[in-house]
Amino acid sequence: MAGAPDGRESICYSAGAVRVCRPLEQRRRGRVSMVVEGGRGMALTEAELGELDGGTRLRESPTAKIATEQLGKVFQARNGRVVALREVDLVIPDGQFCCIVGPSGCGKTTLLRILAGLEEHTDGRLKLTHADPTKPLNSMVFQEQSIFPWMTVESNVGYGLKMRRVGGRQRREIVEYYVDKVGLAAFRRAYPHQLSGGMKQRVSVARAFANDPEILLMDEPFAALDEQNKNLLQEELLKIWEESKKTVVFITHSIDEALVLGDRVLVMTASPGTLKADIPVEFPRPRQVYELKASPAFGELAYNVWSQLRDEVMRARDEEAVRP
Ligand SMILES: Nc1ncnc2c1ncn2[C@@H]1O[C@H](COP(=O)(O)OP(=O)(O)OP(=O)(O)O)[C@@H](O)[C@H]1O
Ligand SMILES: [Mg+2]
Repeated sequence: MAGAPDGRESICYSAGAVRVCRPLEQRRRGRVSMVVEGGRGMALTEAELGELDGGTRLRESPTAKIATEQLGKVFQARNGRVVALREVDLVIPDGQFCCIVGPSGCGKTTLLRILAGLEEHTDGRLKLTHADPTKPLNSMVFQEQSIFPWMTVESNVGYGLKMRRVGGRQRREIVEYYVDKVGLAAFRRAYPHQLSGGMKQRVSVARAFANDPEILLMDEPFAALDEQNKNLLQEELLKIWEESKKTVVFITHSIDEALVLGDRVLVMTASPGTLKADIPVEFPRPRQVYELKASPAFGELAYNVWSQLRDEVMRARDEEAVRP
């Protein structure tokens, strides 16, 4: 096996299968992240795998796109430790639209940032399967607006492609396709300050899809929008997703939104967040937002999710009330 000598960078194994993304010291303590490339990760020997994940095999199936085992995160803040996540066991198969709901402050953004590689976990293990190394593993749509104010709509949407040196013509075609998909064709040369909040979020969504990642990580992307725009964007997102069937992890405070979009809703506990319930959403696709919401089955399932969430929201409120 060949490895990065100083233990600080990614470590590539000669089987061509596994890239360990954490420093060696962390590997020794069993906090391992690995990206399995080309679906060949399972070609590793038992001994190699044992070494990689600190002696304990990840329990997920080899087809999982995302898998965590006992994942935890502790922040060292100025006024002490903050346990943001604890013992998160999660398996998301390829192509699934997975929604996560949970009370404010329970660690949803932290979890997503760990999946995006923007934050390191402090306990447990994480595995992401990267099937096509020529494409980005993931793209994130952030909770707050995150497009570049000095770039036009089309430059924002094409940014990731440009960074990956996708050729001009191909890039223009992809950008045009997604700008059109999110209904911004007439604004493609506009700058963000000339757009409404909803339009800016559409640019973020178009940019994420144009990047063509294997995993799309979305952190309350429509939270700041009015009801009508939210519904329209949900429908647009559904249409684009149904074409691409990417693996999506979508965080929301809205049970309705989770049920309209997801194949599954995970409910998180109040802080420190862990998974409390895993509720399948089996409404047929393609889905029409308003029609679906009007159905009795929708109301029943929404009530089911709320029954799981209610206690956690109350607990989070009680804890907030006593926090300094
Ligand atoms: N960089 C940080 N340093 C210290 N504590 C942090 C940091 N980032 C997040 N936290 C804490 O971790 C906990 C989880 O935060 P997080 O942002 O993940 O919650 P959330 O579920 O996304 O909340 P919301 O629904 O309000 O967006 C909170 O207690 C927060 O204060
Ligand atoms: Mg958040």
